[in-house]
Amino acid sequence: MKQHLIMIVSLAVLGGLILGMAPNAMAAPELVGASKCKSCHKKIGNPYALWEKSGHANAFETLASPESKKIAADLGLGDPQTEEACLKCHVSRVFLGDPAVNAKGKYTDAEGVGCEACHGPGSDYKKKKIMKDHDAAVAAGMIREKTEAHCVQCHNEESPTFKAFDFEKQWAEIDHPVMAKETSK
Ligand code: HEC
Ligand code: HEC
Ligand code: HEC
Ligand code: HEC
Repeated sequence: MKQHLIMIVSLAVLGGLILGMAPNAMAAPELVGASKCKSCHKKIGNPYALWEKSGHANAFETLASPESKKIAADLGLGDPQTEEACLKCHVSRVFLGDPAVNAKGKYTDAEGVGCEACHGPGSDYKKKKIMKDHDAAVAAGMIREKTEAHCVQCHNEESPTFKAFDFEKQWAEIDHPVMAKETSK
């Protein structure tokens, strides 16, 4: 009888442990890259094209400019394209705290501040069925938050070239509405 009880208790504890562990054991969402998003989002509204011509798509390349090299040198840093102190605002992966890069995805640091810097790593929400269902997308890690707080994580005085940030005005410069229901596949 006593043994039975011990058995039940240990099973319950083990079960609890497994259940408690489940969320951690599940892999965190991974980066898939802006060109994965493009495969669907180049159609209606074309948020991809709007992003591509924004400064965000250029943010990694910027770090190779003579201006960037000078800024880094003045701060006693090396190559800006390898310095965490620059990459943390100029590259999605570093900004997001180094999530894994999906093996089947197309992510590279060269995309700079990509879709996923604002919308979250896309491996779990990029499927069409999930994308079409807002709640399912959010549950799979999709972020859609039009807040100044999100922008000023990077647009702040820690940026060596910072002057000012005007949320309404600068949002208008990168707005990328989809206008109608997507019919993409
Ligand atoms: C397989 C096609 C497909 C891929 C790949 C895809 N999307 Fe989507 N996405 C859609 C569709 C379809 C919708 C729904 C549009 C609608 O209902 O008007 C959508 C909606 C969205 C929305 C609005 C969601 C909401 O509920 O407000 C965002 C943001 C978004 N996608 C971002 C992304 C990002 C970022 C990526 C890349 C990581 C991506 N999508 C990859 C097809 C896709
Ligand atoms: C991950 C960091 C990051 C986030 C988050 C971010 N930005 Fe940026 N943004 C940058 C960087 C870096 C540049 C400079 C890119 C370049 O020119 O190389 C930039 C450039 C811009 C530009 C181009 C004009 C300029 O000042 O150079 C606009 C407009 C802009 N961002 C608006 C926004 C808005 C609005 C948000 C919030 C919805 C936002 N950004 C969120 C990093 C970020
Ligand atoms: C706190 C986030 C942040 C950090 C850290 C950061 N940047 Fe930036 N960077 C930005 C943002 C946001 C912009 C666009 C608006 C601005 O100038 O603040 C930008 C713009 C720039 C520009 C101007 C691009 C243009 O189009 O004129 C250069 C050059 C630059 N950054 C270089 C660097 C270098 C080099 C480092 C590392 C020493 C660095 N940044 C670190 C956020 C950051
Ligand atoms: C600087 C941050 C930022 C970047 C980079 C960014 N987005 Fe967004 N995106 C947002 C915000 C914020 C919203 C919500 C706007 C709203 O609700 O009015 C949004 C909305 C959307 C929507 C829904 C639009 C609608 O009208 O329903 C889609 C789809 C989308 N983004 C796709 C993308 C894709 C694809 C990329 C990359 C090619 C991208 N976004 C890059 C911040 C960003």
